Amino acid sequence: MSNILEVQHLSIAFGGVVAVDGVSFNAPKGEILSIIGPNGAGKTTLFNMVSGLYTPRSGSVRLQGKDVSGLPPFQLARIGMSRTFQNLQVFFRQTALENVMIGRTRWEQTSLIADLLRLPSVRRQNAETRDRAYAALERIGLAHHADTVAGNLSYGSLKRLEIARALASEPTLLLLDEPAAGCNAVETEEIEHIVRSIAGSDVAIVLIEHDMKMVMRLSHQVLVLNQGRILARGTPDEVRNNPEVITAYLGSHAKEVEHAAG
Ligand SMILES: Nc1ncnc2c1ncn2[C@@H]1O[C@H](COP(=O)(O)OP(=O)(O)O)[C@@H](O)[C@H]1O
Ligand SMILES: [Mg+2]
Repeated sequence: MSNILEVQHLSIAFGGVVAVDGVSFNAPKGEILSIIGPNGAGKTTLFNMVSGLYTPRSGSVRLQGKDVSGLPPFQLARIGMSRTFQNLQVFFRQTALENVMIGRTRWEQTSLIADLLRLPSVRRQNAETRDRAYAALERIGLAHHADTVAGNLSYGSLKRLEIARALASEPTLLLLDEPAAGCNAVETEEIEHIVRSIAGSDVAIVLIEHDMKMVMRLSHQVLVLNQGRILARGTPDEVRNNPEVITAYLGSHAKEVEHAAG
């Protein structure tokens, strides 16, 4: 088992309130590690530290064995780390393909995203960028909508589009922040299928997700965060049978989880 990502003792505080407190975990190649926990547990904040948006108060991040602590997001993207955001980050007036091409910035000569956001310059990007963005759309089943203006796509398609954009940079590590949030059962199943297939291509995946059935079906390992700390970790079976987890977090979701077990 080779770890693509190694996170050690990450902590951060906002205005004296500790939001993430000494969290460590590894994400192995080709596996799906899910992070669950109630709203406000610190899941997104953890991603923000791992992906270089927030500077941790303490701790370290290693990517493929290399210490990358403190590197900004665009540099992390260049060496294989890619992520999606909890809220849609879509440019609604641009086509699906153009939205994905933005994810290729790490391969372009210019690193200024602002340049790329001007439509004419997006159009001028070379054929390779276009081809690879198209390939990413194919992987998430949206190639037939390449030229559709994003504003005309369904919500479920937009959530997939965000995954395509993250894939376009050809990551070895993919961080997904609630990729199925707000999706219906059919859309959730499509996203589950896509996530599994990405892991199948040897990418390490860290998944934040509230859909417990999806988490239980997909994950190799599950990490339970509660008030910034790790409450439990283990296989889906271990986590769902952990009495502490059931009391602290799954209480309100307990039925859902039992259901997912069956
Ligand atoms: N930039 C920030 N400034 C102040 N507080 C923040 C900031 N980001 C997150 N927090 C706080 O950190 C805690 C964890 O939030 P978050 O990571 O978004 O939780 P989750 O993703 O698990 O729902 C919350 O109390 C939130 O208000
Ligand atoms: Mg969050």
